[in-house]
Amino acid sequence: MFMKPMKYPPINPKFPHFLHGGDYNPDQWKHTPEVWDEDMRLMKLAHCNVMSVGIFSWASLEPEEGKFEFGWLDTIMDKLAENGVYAILATPSGARPAWLAAKYPEVLRVLPNRVRILFGGRHNHCYTSPVYREKTRLINQKLAERYKDHPALLAWHVSNEYGGECHCELCQQAFREWLKKKYDNDLDKLNRAWWTGFWSHTYTDWDQIQSPAPHGEGSIHGLNLDWKRFVTHQTIEFMKNEIAPLREITPNVPVTTNFMGTYTGLNYWKFAPELDVISWDNYPRWHGEEPDWELAYKVAFVHDINRSLKGGKPFMLMESTPSMTNWMKVAKLKRPGMHLLSSIQAVAHGSDTVQYFQWRKSRGCVEKFHGAVVDHCGHENTRVFRDVAEVGKVLEKLDPIIGTTVRPEVAIIYDWENRWAIDDMKGLIQDKKDYLLTCQSHYRPFWENGVPVDVIDMDCDFSGYKLLIAPMLYMVRPGVAERIEKFVEEGGTFVTTYWSGIVDENDLCFLGGFPGPLRKVTGIWSEEIDALYDHDVNHVVLKDDNPLGLKGEYEARELCDLIHAETAEVLATYKSDFYAGRPALTVNSFGKGKAYYIAFRNNGDFLTDFYGALIKELNLKRAVDTELPQGVTAQMRTDGERVFVFILNFVPEERQVDLKEMRFKDMITGEDVTGRVSLPPYGVKILERL
Ligand code: GLA
Ligand code: ZN
Repeated sequence: MFMKPMKYPPINPKFPHFLHGGDYNPDQWKHTPEVWDEDMRLMKLAHCNVMSVGIFSWASLEPEEGKFEFGWLDTIMDKLAENGVYAILATPSGARPAWLAAKYPEVLRVLPNRVRILFGGRHNHCYTSPVYREKTRLINQKLAERYKDHPALLAWHVSNEYGGECHCELCQQAFREWLKKKYDNDLDKLNRAWWTGFWSHTYTDWDQIQSPAPHGEGSIHGLNLDWKRFVTHQTIEFMKNEIAPLREITPNVPVTTNFMGTYTGLNYWKFAPELDVISWDNYPRWHGEEPDWELAYKVAFVHDINRSLKGGKPFMLMESTPSMTNWMKVAKLKRPGMHLLSSIQAVAHGSDTVQYFQWRKSRGCVEKFHGAVVDHCGHENTRVFRDVAEVGKVLEKLDPIIGTTVRPEVAIIYDWENRWAIDDMKGLIQDKKDYLLTCQSHYRPFWENGVPVDVIDMDCDFSGYKLLIAPMLYMVRPGVAERIEKFVEEGGTFVTTYWSGIVDENDLCFLGGFPGPLRKVTGIWSEEIDALYDHDVNHVVLKDDNPLGLKGEYEARELCDLIHAETAEVLATYKSDFYAGRPALTVNSFGKGKAYYIAFRNNGDFLTDFYGALIKELNLKRAVDTELPQGVTAQMRTDGERVFVFILNFVPEERQVDLKEMRFKDMITGEDVTGRVSLPPYGVKILERL
């Protein structure tokens, strides 16, 4: 097994500290440059050391085609450097200038209904357009040439939140070329892979192929899947074109682009190898419809994806709001404590930065009421400003944590292509397929027990984990089942659920019995699956003396898979309905390991007890070996020698955690900590193990 590092270099070794700052739009204040000086004063007061600049500045950088104006940015870069603030310099392709759209309409995106958009908004260009690629490459080159030796330049922020898709003729043609390559120029091969005999959709010419459309094709799952793959591919090609001049001119400046969590439009796993560091924008609905701690484990899950995307390398929290998020249905303020807590949550899961959208509220337009460090009042005497400054002060004490990571013994597979296929399929319960939520509910018991988890896709290396969990592994791509078998044979524990092993990489059902290629390792055959209405409840009854030590009954809701144990041992059975007595939970011994199959969907209780038993049985590593009250988690980072523990209280009430005899140093106060510690409402403790 390839040994992964325990400690990574800082994002840019020229500043080996936590980055703290935000999206900064000085070009909106060009006519009042005194505001720029005030910004510099406030940045220092806010303990900010980095600003993302130029994200939407194209019209200020190139006001006319070929006429570049860098004067204002020169001033800003110089001011930042003079004030000890670094720049994460953006390429401006996220929003284009009006002249560009007017002169070259091909840069404007065509919607799925084949209507070309008008100029406006942002994030809405064609990623294929040779003109748009040429123009972005040129401006990126100019930026890199101009600032390559600037002391403020720390990293590249390429574009902004890539997303969406274009259905123009250029994109259609590129899609067909991509398909020709994928299917070896063999249309027959494509027809078979897409099962186009269905409804007489057989293609007899490549030019007949069109991207999915609301008034056109939508029923060929293989086409839908390949289109999504193509959109990812094409966006990456566009991004590579953007990155090329940056790498050439500034080979030592790291490159990132900001992701949007579990955004389904792009498969981020394909982007990761092209980037030096992963970054993402995080906007949870705190204090909303669900308890904060329930939201917290879902957010933690996404942080863990971002850490896992580059095999454990620390990532960047590129955006978060210092107070409210104006585009939400209810723009609720963060309650006292939540700003520090949610910022440190990112750090606890592997972020080496805490950054915001936005530094200063804009005076006009659609984001003028979005949370910012500096409000319209313009000064530092605000609650939000003080919260931000507090985060800055805390981060200044965390230098030893930079570059550290965690090597979890547990991995959960959350796979983008699998999600695409599940979302597209008709069956089960249409509005409760809930792939993401299901993965998060399997994650929850680990979060509650302070057991670190990687969240990976099915192509990742499984060796090195003790426990591999693949909820609803509907799609199984070639080679994956073989790698799971090897993992279990060599002593790993594998857990999968209902609705696994159903389709291959083309979204074609496996023949000969589900769970298809997972049948051998799970030792079961799934004959049918029952979908239940909300008012339907079944139960599963645990067998006496089952090796997990589980007792009694648990609810089964929504989905009940009707399976036969082949080589597997039955641990629980259904209690009622026509399948009473049939297996609901099985375990199959396979080589030196075991494979569990959970046939039913359940409330959290079952997963809590089931994984609680596995955590004990496998003796899984915990951040701190103690009981954690509900709503409190513990996470860890380490360089292999020093161990840093984060205890996070996501309930608005005081909570106690018993550290027993263990001894720690509080990294914020410097005090020694042992025994019972108290966490205030939404409180955090950042501890180093002694
Ligand atoms: C996104 C964008 C930002 C801003 C924020 C507002 O994350 O990247 O430019 O619009 O949303 O929440
Ligand atoms: Zn296009």
